[in-house]
This record gives sequence, structure tokens and C-alpha cells, in this order.
Amino acid sequence: MNTSELAKIASKLVAKGKGILAADESTSTAGKRLESIGLENNEKNRRDMREMFFTSKDVEEFISGVILYDETLRQNSSHDVPFSSMLTEKGIIPGIKVDEGLEETSNGEKVTKGLENLSPRLEEYYNLGARFAKWRAVYSITDTLPSENCYAENAKRLAKYAKLCQEAGIVPIVEPEVLMDDANRNTHSLERADEVVRTAHTHLFNALKEEGVYLEGLLLKPSMVIAGKNAEVQATEDQVASWTYKALLDTVPEEVAGVVFLSGGQSDEQATIHLDKMNKIAAGNNPWALTFSYGRALQGAALSTWKGQQINLATAQSVFMHRAKCNSLAAKGEYSKELEAA
Ligand code: 13P
Repeated sequence: MNTSELAKIASKLVAKGKGILAADESTSTAGKRLESIGLENNEKNRRDMREMFFTSKDVEEFISGVILYDETLRQNSSHDVPFSSMLTEKGIIPGIKVDEGLEETSNGEKVTKGLENLSPRLEEYYNLGARFAKWRAVYSITDTLPSENCYAENAKRLAKYAKLCQEAGIVPIVEPEVLMDDANRNTHSLERADEVVRTAHTHLFNALKEEGVYLEGLLLKPSMVIAGKNAEVQATEDQVASWTYKALLDTVPEEVAGVVFLSGGQSDEQATIHLDKMNKIAAGNNPWALTFSYGRALQGAALSTWKGQQINLATAQSVFMHRAKCNSLAAKGEYSKELEAA
């Protein structure tokens, strides 16, 4: 394992004022996004959707890396340039989602699969240009769940994945996603979310330690501590920011290279504001970078502007770049709401 190379990639991904674009929707999730703007789920439309984001002018100013899905890592642009070369030439690091989705446990919870054959797949992804990877575990909240088994099994698998990535020269992003809006499981309080986020992190970092994963060459992609989408009492922006930062300080070792949040169903502006407030609270004293790895909160508005029509392309790209810029400022604690009117 070349630890200094891993640390270099990880720190490049969380360089000041930069974050990650999560464009790794599986074919079926990409289909849902396309359907929402009236487009068919076919390879060309998926390519065009990705191309819109990747060819936005100066995208590399705010985006350090892009998480791709298997198909996209192997795909060429409409001008026949492999997406991975196109990104690398701009100084953007290509990444790859390597988990293979969720399997249900006997009590109806979900654990993430994809460890079988992971090593040869990582080798191939490395040869295709990927230098970082993502594995997502999900935790759904009720009064009694997640179960101990769900925490333990997901942590074990995340740690095994992380170790295999590092052996292949790939920086692992570990993503314990605590769902704020799972079907029928979205009324939990801020306090309950805090408990679950903390427990998931504690299990995860114990497992990473046991596996001997090199933390300076690893990124954590956590959920923010936030009440369920349909909870009676919603926390304020200041509460979400301060509770999240505190939970991270208490559970994430200082050696971890960076924290790159998921947006998880927050509105675009909320995701930006919460990130900004955290960086303002931390005031530069945070042991790890605090930035973004957003999917929906970076892409949603641009997609609805684009609608698959060439005539809307430039406007859609500027909508995307606006969000990217706002999140870049938030990653430095320099965002202000007035920017949204501009
Ligand atoms: P969202 O920001 O849309 O939650 O997506 C990030 C991600 O990668 C989820 O796995």
C-alpha cells in the first residue's frame, strides 16, 4: 500500500473550497432523474445528462472529484472522449461507486453488498482511471432500529471494502447514510438522529481500526444530524450545524483526511447553509476538512432547467455552477444567503 499516494489523493479531493460531485446514480436511479424531466432512460440520455455537468465551463474551480457509476466510467462523451480522461485532463479526479446495492436482512433492515469479486473490480477501475471509490450503507430510523446487527454488519463490510481499496491504490469514501426520509420512517427527532449517527460512526471507526485501514487516506461521507423529513419538530439551521459538528468531533478520529457530506434529501439551499454554518462554527479549527459530496443538491435544479434540450444547456450549466460555487463558499464558511438572489 502506497500510503503517501493515498494521502495525496485524499487531500486533493478536499482541497480548500472544493468538493465532490456525486454523479454515481445507478441505471435505475438515473432513470428516475430522467423520468422527472420527461426523458427516456437510455444510454444516450444518461450520457448527455452526465456530459452537461462535466463540460460546464470552469467546473474544476469548485469540483475536485466526480463519483461515477460503472457505465459512466466506461463511457465516451458525444465527441468520443472517455469521460474519465475528460475529467482527468481538467484536473478532476474520477471516482467510482463500487457497492452493489442493498440486501434485506431477516428483520427488514438493509445491508450493503458487493464484497465478492471486489478486488479484481478495483484493479480494473484503477486501470480505467478511478482513484477513489464509494460504498454506501444505509440506516433507517425507528424507535428501536437500527439493530445492533445492522450497525455491526455494515461497519464490517465498509471496513473490508476500505482496506481492499487502499490495497488497490484507491482512496475509499465510507458512507454511513442515516436516512432522513425513508418510507414510513421519517418522523424521528433531532436527538434520535444524533444517537444513530454517533452509534454508526463508533461502530465504523472501530471496524476500520480492526481492519488496519489508513485513516489519512480515507474520507467519511456522513449524513448531517437532522430530524426526519416528517418529524413534528424540525431543528433550526443552527441546531443542525452545531449538533452535526459536535457529533463529528466526538466520533471521527483526527487522522481522517476529510468529511464530505451527502445531501440526503435536504433542499439545495439547506444543504449549502448547513455546510456553511458548520465551517463558520469550526472557524478553521476542524481537524479534518468539512466539504460536500452532493448528488441531488448539486444536480437537481440544473436537471429541471435542462430538460434534455440543447437550447437549455447553457442556462442549466450556469444553474449547476451557481450551486457548485455556493457550496464551494460554504466549504470555506464564506457563503451568504444574498448570493441566491444573484
Ligand atoms: P445525495 O447528495 O443526493 O444524498 O447523494 C449523495 C450520494 O452519493 C448518496 O449515496
